Amino acid sequence: MNFHILTLFPEMITDTLSASIIGRASQNNSISIDTVNIRDYTNDKHGSVDDYPYGGGAGMLMQAQPIYDAYKSIEEKIGHKPRTVYLSPQGKTFNQKIAHELSIEDDLVLLCGHYEGVDERVLDKIDAELISIGDYVLTGGELAAMVIVDSVSRLVPGVLHNDESSEDESFENSLLEYPQYSRPYEWDGMKVPDILLSGDHKKVDEWRHEKSLERTLENRPDLLERAELSKKDIEFIDSIRYKYDS
Ligand code: ADE
Repeated sequence: MNFHILTLFPEMITDTLSASIIGRASQNNSISIDTVNIRDYTNDKHGSVDDYPYGGGAGMLMQAQPIYDAYKSIEEKIGHKPRTVYLSPQGKTFNQKIAHELSIEDDLVLLCGHYEGVDERVLDKIDAELISIGDYVLTGGELAAMVIVDSVSRLVPGVLHNDESSEDESFENSLLEYPQYSRPYEWDGMKVPDILLSGDHKKVDEWRHEKSLERTLENRPDLLERAELSKKDIEFIDSIRYKYDS
């Protein structure tokens, strides 16, 4: 999978995504992350990429021309029209389902805005879908783009090693992950739940599933509406619901 990131701050991206699992995945070519500096494509002789909004209002807007030409350079390079995302608080909220959808693309363009946004015409022209990473406002789209690269990459085959597998995790089947423990058995007076030492895999799985349900009920009850729950799950949730009713 190839990510193409349109940005005014390529070093933010390259510095961050060269570390850890995503850095390793780029090194072994499971993914590629190319940054395209929008400023390199401006026709303005002073290198400017922004201007005042028509109709007035605070701040500056990124202009259409440099963004479009930077985008075109990617289209020409890969030889087809790629799926294109503009990171914006006005977009639909990113989640694990969208991450799965994006992970099957060969090429994904991520456009990072700055200042007060970008000229709307270029978004239409490049057919950008708007995605937000949450209901808060960032100073630019770079952090949001990196969140998407990170979460999508780990679903691309070959990026995670077997022992880092993503199957049992939070949001898979709309449940949060169960609590985990490592050595020592007792730390600061607190012991690991004995069931985890029992060697009975069926019991361990049942315990973990119940903990997943409980954690989801406590922290994200909205997710339970979407989860596939058995009759037994529903009975269990009903039996502990009183603890979390406020
Ligand atoms: N740019 C600024 N805020 C953002 C957000 N919440 N999500 C995506 N892009 C953004």
